[in-house]
Amino acid sequence: MSVHSSDIKRITTHTIQEMKNRGEKISCLTAYDYSMGGIVDAAGVELILVGDSASNVMAGHETTLPLTLDQMIYHAASVVRAVKRALVVVDLPFGSYQGNSEEALRSAIRIMKESGAHAVKLEGGLEVKESILRILSAGVPVMGHLGLTPQSIYKFGTYTVRAREEEEARKLLADAQMLDEVGCFSVVLEKIPSALTREVSESVSIPTIGIGAGPHADGQILVLHDLLGINKEFKPRFLRRYADLNDVMHGAIAQYVADIKGKAFPNEKESY
Ligand code: KIV
Repeated sequence: MSVHSSDIKRITTHTIQEMKNRGEKISCLTAYDYSMGGIVDAAGVELILVGDSASNVMAGHETTLPLTLDQMIYHAASVVRAVKRALVVVDLPFGSYQGNSEEALRSAIRIMKESGAHAVKLEGGLEVKESILRILSAGVPVMGHLGLTPQSIYKFGTYTVRAREEEEARKLLADAQMLDEVGCFSVVLEKIPSALTREVSESVSIPTIGIGAGPHADGQILVLHDLLGINKEFKPRFLRRYADLNDVMHGAIAQYVADIKGKAFPNEKESY
């Protein structure tokens, strides 16, 4: 029996809420293009984030700050065209939502209209509450992001673990509760102590999605290129590599070059 895309049950924000309610962990990954989006979706992750980490892994920038709204929409539309099942969430890029809730709404609407994605994500707590409320009022699902928020890297000055001190931990907990109360559908917790992740996850009703935040989050997310070992230099403690694709790809391409030089490619069967 063949499976048509119309037979596949789509993951929604309600699906992942139900997963938290029954204690089933939620798997999430980033993707930035059509080919990878299709592979990630077919492999069964529930949530695909078109993250602004595209700025680092796709464009080679040092930070996530340079990525534009147009560029995010291009990445997101490519992923959406490939995805049949997962919930697709798109990062609002730096400068498209902070400090101006009308602009935040315009940015979110552009993402939803022009990419066909299902939700947006933005970084921060109380500071961006107005923007969150405005976007939610248009019926656009919002995912929060607390802890290490890479768009604020020049404020933090480092990518080290956040909220180790009591004051920052209390603020993070209050921000998470605010995101829950105003109606966000989930929240990413990045690089915070495991015990704080447990406390947050137990005190909010919405799913928490951890990265470098220990095992107590309701779900986990990694950057696809890190998990696949495409990017060899990035080796944080929280990263588990499931493949060494950098070596595999390098080997395949080097063999291709050698075959051309040695006149082994193409052969008769590969010719017309
Ligand atoms: O941009 C991104 O990839 C992210 C994840 C690390 C959560 O925000």
